[in-house]
Amino acid sequence: PVADDLILVSNRQPYTHSYEHDDAGERTISVNRPAGGLTAGLDPVMQETDGTWVAWGDGEADADVTDENGEVRMPPESEAYTLKRLWLSEEEVEGYYYGYSNRVLWPLCHGGTMKTEYVERFWQRYQQVNERFAEAVAESASDDPLVWFQDYHFTLAPRAVRDALDDPFIMHFWHITWPGWDTFRACPQGQQLLEGLLGNDLLGFHVERYCENFLDCVDRALEDAFIDEEGGRINYEGHTTTVRAFPLGIDAESIREESAAADASFEADIRSTYDIGADTTMIVGVDRLDYTKGIVERLEALERLWETEPEYQGTVTYVQKASESRSLIPDYQDLQQNVRETIERINDRFGTPDWQPVVYIDEFIPQSELCGLYRYSDVMLVSAVRDGMNLVAKEYVAAQVDDDGVLVLSDQAGAHEELGEHALTINPYDTESFADTIQQALAMAPDERRDRMAALREQVAAHDLYAWMDDVFATARDLREQRDHDGG
Ligand code: UDP
Ligand code: G6P
Repeated sequence: PVADDLILVSNRQPYTHSYEHDDAGERTISVNRPAGGLTAGLDPVMQETDGTWVAWGDGEADADVTDENGEVRMPPESEAYTLKRLWLSEEEVEGYYYGYSNRVLWPLCHGGTMKTEYVERFWQRYQQVNERFAEAVAESASDDPLVWFQDYHFTLAPRAVRDALDDPFIMHFWHITWPGWDTFRACPQGQQLLEGLLGNDLLGFHVERYCENFLDCVDRALEDAFIDEEGGRINYEGHTTTVRAFPLGIDAESIREESAAADASFEADIRSTYDIGADTTMIVGVDRLDYTKGIVERLEALERLWETEPEYQGTVTYVQKASESRSLIPDYQDLQQNVRETIERINDRFGTPDWQPVVYIDEFIPQSELCGLYRYSDVMLVSAVRDGMNLVAKEYVAAQVDDDGVLVLSDQAGAHEELGEHALTINPYDTESFADTIQQALAMAPDERRDRMAALREQVAAHDLYAWMDDVFATARDLREQRDHDGG
C-alpha cells in the first residue's frame, strides 16, 4: 500500500448502500456510485492505499453494512480500503451541506455572489460539522498520520485537526475554482475560511490561476500572513502552508479499455434504445445538473445551429446525459425546470415524426455504457460557465479509441488549460460563435479530427490519475521529510 496511514476526508462518499425489492418482494441491498468528479477520481486512488476514507453516510441502508464504528471495507469486490461513515442529523445536512456548502461556498467560488445566501444557521451548522469530522479524524489517527481533506465542505477542519493532534501532516485538495479577491471579499466569514485552510501543510488546486487567486486573497485578508509568492508558501501564525497546482486526471487506461470493449453492436443498441437513426450524427453532453455546467447555454447554441443551418435538422441529434443533483436547493430546481423546458421547446420546434433533435437521458447508466456513448458520439460539448476542472471532457477524450471525435470545450473550465490547444474553444455565453464552432466540429475533415484527437489522447494519458496521485504523494513526502528534518 502507498499510504496505509492515510485518512481521506470528503463529504460525498464513494459508494452508498440502498434497499431494493426483487420480484418476489424480497428486500436486498444494492451498492451505488454517485455522480461527481471528486469520488470518480479518488476511489481508484484510495484503492492503491489501504487507508481510511471518512465521509457522510447518506444512503438509506448504509448503517446496515457497517460495523459498530461505522466502518465497512470497500469496494465490495476487492475490499481495498476502509470507508468510515459519519451520520449527520437532518439539521446538520440542511445547514452544512445544502446550506453553507452549496448555497454559499459553491456559488461564491464559481463567481456567483448573487446566488449566495448568508443565513446564520448555515454557518453555525457548517462549523459544527467541520468540528465533528475533525474529531472523527483525531479518533482514527495513528501516531504520525497523513490527513487529506477534500473540497469546500471542510475549510475549517484542517485547523481543528492541527489543534487536536501533535504535529500531524495535513493536506487538502480543492476541487473547484478559487475566485479572485474581488469576489471572495464579499464573504463575511472569509477570514475564518482562510485561517481554517492555513491549518494545512499542503493545499492543492487544479490550475495555477486558482493558486494565485488564493495567495492574493490571503495577502489581502490576513495582515499577519507572510507570503512567498514564487515558492507558493504562506506562513501564518508560525505555520507554513505550501500551495500548489495539481491538475486532476482520470483513469485513462480503464476508460480506454471499456470504450474499446463497446463494439458495433453497442452502437446499434444505443441508437435503437433512443430511436436515433443509423446515419444520424450524434453530439453528446454529460453533466451533473448544475448551473455551472452551461447546459441551457449549450441547448441555445444548438437551437441556433438548427435554425440557421437547416441541413442539420433530421441529420444531427444531441444526446444529453444528466444526473440530478442537490435538488432541495431552489436554484437547482429552477435549473432542472429550465433544462426541461428548453429541450421541450427545441423538440417541439424542430422535431418530426422521424427525428427528435434532443434526446434526454436522466436514468443511471453504468460506466461501460457511458464509455460506449462517448465513443460513438462524433462531437462532445463541454460548455461550463465556470468549472474547477471538468473530468467529463477528459473521459470523452480517453474513450476516442478510433480518434474520430471532436471536443468542443469552454475556456471557463479548468480542463481548458491542458486541452485547449487541440480542442475547439468556445465561450458558452457567445451563442452565435458557439453555434459556428459546433458547425466547424461537424464539418471537420477526418485527418484534422484524428490529429487533434491523437494529441488530446496523448495529453490525457500522460497526465492521468496515477500521475496526479504520484505528484501529490511525492510532494507530501518531501514536505513531511522537510518537517521532520527541521523539527529534529
Ligand atoms: N457522471 C456520471 N453520470 C452523469 C453525469 C456525470 O457518471 O450523468 C460522472 C462523469 O462520468 C464524471 C463525473 O460524474 O466522472 C463528473 O465529473 P466532472 O469533473 O465533469 O464534474 P462534477 O460533477 O464533479 O462537477
Ligand atoms: C463537485 C464537487 C464535489 C461533489 C460533486 C458532486 O465535483 O467538487 O465535492 O462531490 O460535485 O456533488 P454532490 O453535492 O452530489 O456531492
